[in-house]
Amino acid sequence: MSETFHRVVEAALVEERAILPFIVNGWPLFICRDEGTLHAVINRCSHAAAEFAPGGRVRKGAVMCPLHGARFKLQNGECIGGASYKPLKLFECRETEDGWVEVAVPDGPPGAEHLPVKPLC
Ligand code: FES
Repeated sequence: MSETFHRVVEAALVEERAILPFIVNGWPLFICRDEGTLHAVINRCSHAAAEFAPGGRVRKGAVMCPLHGARFKLQNGECIGGASYKPLKLFECRETEDGWVEVAVPDGPPGAEHLPVKPLC
């Protein structure tokens, strides 16, 4: 499926360890900055479909799910720390010369397997 870059947020607003949720062309994702590097990741845990943002934590190259605590590498989406959940979908992202974060998302809509499940309460 083809992808297109979308301008999402001013880079200055993505502070170190911030975890900011967005919907881009229908795709739920979060943008974070860890040790200076920007990342864009699906906002849906591969364990039980919870949202990482808001509430998740970014630290030392990984994101931790706020629901059960699974951790995933930001570099490749791999689950670490003992669990063996599927890797997270990552999105290419870049910072433009005029200070914006752009994220490449598929041109088609996400399937149900990419949508987070909201808590009932
Ligand atoms: S839903 Fe993320 S660890 Fe269970």
